[in-house]
Amino acid sequence: MSQSLPYHVYSFLRLLPFWVLCASCNKCAVRHEVADCSHLKLTQIPDDLPANITVLNLTHNQFRRLPPDNFTRYSQLTILDGGFNCISKLEPELCQKLPLLEILDLQHNELSQFSDKTFMFCMNLTELHLRSNSIQKIQNNPFKNLKNLIKLDLSHNGLSSTKLGTQLQLENLQELLLSNNKIQALRRDELDFLGNSSLKKLELSSNQIKESPYWRNLIKYINNEGENKNHPKVHNPETTSVSIWFSPGCFQAIGKLFGLSLNSVQLGPSLTEKLCLELSNTSIQNLSLSNTQLYRTSNTTFFGLKQTNLTMLDLSHNNLNVIGNDSFAWLPHLEYFFLEYNNIEHLYVHSFYGLFNVRYLNLRRSFTKQSISLASLPKIDDFSFQWLKCLEYLNMEDNNFPGIKSNMFTGLVKLKHLSLSNSFSSLRTLTNETFLSLAHSPLLTLNLTKNKISKLESGAFSWLGHLKILDLGLNEIGQELTGQEWRGLENIFEIYLSYNKYLQLTSNSFALVPSLQRLMLRRVALKNVDSFPPPFRPLHNLTILDLSNNNIANINDELLEGLEKLEVLDLQHNNLARLWKHANPGGPVHFLKGLSHLHVLNLESNGFDEIPAEAFKNLFELKSINLGLNNLNILPPSVFDDQVSLKSLSLQKNLITSVEKNVFGPALKNLSSLDMSFNPFDCTCESIAWFVNWINGTHTNISELSSHYLCNTPPQYHGFPVMLFDTSSCKDSAPFELLFMINTSFLLIFIFIVLLIHFEGWRISFYWNVSVHRVLGFKEIDSQPEQFEYAAYIIHAYKDRDWVWEHFSPMEEQDQTLKFCLEERDFQAGVLELEAIINSIKRSRKIIFIITQHLLKDPLCKRFKVHHAVQQAIEQNLDSIILIFLEEIPDYKLNHALCLRRGMFKSRCILNWPVQKERINAFHHKLQVALGSRNSAH
Ligand SMILES: *[C@@H]1O[C@H](CO)[C@@H](O)[C@H](O)[C@H]1NC(C)=O
Ligand SMILES: *[C@@H]1O[C@H](CO)[C@@H](O)[C@H](O)[C@H]1NC(C)=O
Ligand SMILES: *[C@@H]1O[C@H](CO)[C@@H](O)[C@H](O)[C@H]1NC(C)=O
Ligand SMILES: *[C@@H]1O[C@H](CO)[C@@H](O)[C@H](O)[C@H]1NC(C)=O
Ligand SMILES: *[C@@H]1O[C@H](CO)[C@@H](O)[C@H](O)[C@H]1NC(C)=O
Ligand SMILES: *[C@@H]1O[C@H](CO)[C@@H](O)[C@H](O)[C@H]1NC(C)=O
Repeated sequence: MSQSLPYHVYSFLRLLPFWVLCASCNKCAVRHEVADCSHLKLTQIPDDLPANITVLNLTHNQFRRLPPDNFTRYSQLTILDGGFNCISKLEPELCQKLPLLEILDLQHNELSQFSDKTFMFCMNLTELHLRSNSIQKIQNNPFKNLKNLIKLDLSHNGLSSTKLGTQLQLENLQELLLSNNKIQALRRDELDFLGNSSLKKLELSSNQIKESPYWRNLIKYINNEGENKNHPKVHNPETTSVSIWFSPGCFQAIGKLFGLSLNSVQLGPSLTEKLCLELSNTSIQNLSLSNTQLYRTSNTTFFGLKQTNLTMLDLSHNNLNVIGNDSFAWLPHLEYFFLEYNNIEHLYVHSFYGLFNVRYLNLRRSFTKQSISLASLPKIDDFSFQWLKCLEYLNMEDNNFPGIKSNMFTGLVKLKHLSLSNSFSSLRTLTNETFLSLAHSPLLTLNLTKNKISKLESGAFSWLGHLKILDLGLNEIGQELTGQEWRGLENIFEIYLSYNKYLQLTSNSFALVPSLQRLMLRRVALKNVDSFPPPFRPLHNLTILDLSNNNIANINDELLEGLEKLEVLDLQHNNLARLWKHANPGGPVHFLKGLSHLHVLNLESNGFDEIPAEAFKNLFELKSINLGLNNLNILPPSVFDDQVSLKSLSLQKNLITSVEKNVFGPALKNLSSLDMSFNPFDCTCESIAWFVNWINGTHTNISELSSHYLCNTPPQYHGFPVMLFDTSSCKDSAPFELLFMINTSFLLIFIFIVLLIHFEGWRISFYWNVSVHRVLGFKEIDSQPEQFEYAAYIIHAYKDRDWVWEHFSPMEEQDQTLKFCLEERDFQAGVLELEAIINSIKRSRKIIFIITQHLLKDPLCKRFKVHHAVQQAIEQNLDSIILIFLEEIPDYKLNHALCLRRGMFKSRCILNWPVQKERINAFHHKLQVALGSRNSAH
């Protein structure tokens, strides 16, 4: 009972947040002058928000209008987000009510038209978001007053023209987003409203020409009338159909144009060329032409850009197949060059000619990939990169090169970062020639993952003296590491070798790389870890060592000796259980000793069922221990005593039944996160009480406490959340227990007394009376028998007088000494009846009650006679009363009517009139015994 009560309370509490949540349905969340009213199905502007809010988010509701009057209260707003509603009309007064408004977001609504007045009062607006509305046409000059506007987003509408005004305006505009519209031509007169603007970004992506008869005629007309006579006419039908796109001087109409995006516009090579010519006298710096079907480039494609200072060019996703010689000769200022996801077959010596300033080149998945035969593998001519004197970062991932030629990277004299992950179809063996072409590159990082490399020959990296990070993971290297593989890596900081086929260590495996700080050897089927001297001994600077997933079973206690800087040690998923058994021949192996700077230790899944008491001794800086997924049950006391810095402890999925203070006290002291989930906790006071008290008082993060920390034993608590275990009955709280016991005892005694008085009260008061009389010295009067005139006074109901007469007078006749007092016969004439009764009772030695239903109802008997009889009996003796039952009368009725109980009298004084005649003699005998008995209490 006492256990289940808190549980109900708990489940009630769990419902609470839901209640709170529901009580606040349709309530905006207000924090720090920001009101978030999104996703509330609102149709009315809330009128009860703090008046000083500066941000109001009304997104994802059902507004059709934003009535200005409803915003009067919120005049401090600087950001109004009304996106994702059904707003179809905007009133000029809105901005009037919101003079400080800087950002107005109305994306995903149903706006279609603006008048010159619509934004008239939005003087302070810097951003206007009108993406995804139904705007087909901008008439007159709705944006004229937006002198501070920096960003205007009109993408995903139905605009067919870039014309947003008829006069100069938007002088501070930096970003104009017009992607995903139906703009089919860029004309000078449709852009000249931007004549005073400096656009950092003009976004025109995804504006597709839909060929229509109208357009075809227009194209014909223009070609014939020769509006663009000054430009070379291309007779390719593909290009004539779109040559209308850039009318002469269109980009010159814009004050300054620094950035242009035309992604996903079907330009093709010819139109790209034309575009570049149009851009020739602009300030263009960033040009994005991703996914424009530019399948080949030549020495004319970017000719138009030769006067510009283009620094960024994106040609990704173009299916680019041929890069003609000198294609980029016109781009000497280019710094960032994106060529990923193309289909280049052959990189010629002069393909990259002229890219003298490129610092970043992305060639990820740039080359043909579909080939099966060697013949169609992509080719990179020797010296192809020689022009890229400033290149620092080269990404060549996910290609299919046949191999590295001796001068492949020659000339990359500033290259620092080279990724060749998954770049080669067959780079099986790395020889001391492989990276010769990088000998003059100051390479710092080299990524060679996923290349099916199977062998590292001696001196393979000897050209890379600057290298800091060498990533050889996820290959198929299977060999003994003699140490010569790393020759020349004088500045190496990290070697990543994880996920290879097998690596056999020797004492010299790392003798030539003492600068190494990080060594990753996860899942490499590591062999000879216990060779001597230990393979890691030369690595005095090692801070991270990953030996996990190697199924290591044998190591000696000197393996990690001397690694005083080691901070992270990963040994999870090995087979180290035997080393810590105290039955291990020679005792437990203390392989962690001396790692005085260890911060993170992972020993998950090692089959440990024992931890020696000294296992973590002197590891004072340990911040995180993971011992999850082992078979630990009982941990030695004090095992964590030196872990004064511990922040994270994982012991999930072990066999821990009890969590006691002497083991876990020090470890849990400053912990910020604990994982002990899925252990078979024993929910008894001894095992768990301390832990439960700790849980309920700690700030440590323990996730899934209510669902993953369950009692296993005792059976009645199986599956019960540990956190709900009631520790109040445990000995730690003895004072409460005592209080409880005292309270309970009092209660029980009280109840007992109440019950006793209720059921046996008569007996108590009766014997009390008797005792009082005894104590006060009433003597037995029995000693003077001669004072009694009658042997017995007979009390009976009037209605029973015949029976009494009939049965008692014969008895008198038989025995002459016997004389009963029968009221009808013996009462003195003339004496008052009550007095007579008292006198008669006094003069009788015994009192006989003839008990029938009549007697119980007889008023005189009930009150008076019985009272006196009992009074006399108490004064005299209890034996003086004889009850004769003529019929069966239950005790409670007897008590109720006469205040008598059978229990008050000795059994020989209680007689039952027999039903059978033959027993009448026996009855008489009994009566005589009763009459003859001495009057004595006991
Ligand atoms: C604006 O306020 C008026 C009156 O306060 C109210 O009736 C109306 O529904 C409100 N409109 C909106 C869209 O909140
Ligand atoms: C904004 O108003 C709320 C109450 O409406 C108040 O608690 C808060 O301090 C106010 N904030 C400022 C910056 O005045
Ligand atoms: C408004 O809320 C939506 C959805 O919660 C969010 O995406 C958007 O960024 C918010 N707007 C602002 C201005 O915070
Ligand atoms: C723009 O905001 C400033 C305060 O930032 C304010 O003083 C000014 O009046 C606002 N301009 C308009 C036209 O309301
Ligand atoms: C482009 O290359 C062709 C030969 O392929 C050459 O005749 C022509 O002069 C080159 N044009 C320029 C501008 O270098
Ligand atoms: C290119 O940069 C140089 C120097 O930074 C500058 O003088 C020149 O005007 C720029 N050219 C263009 C077209 O912006």
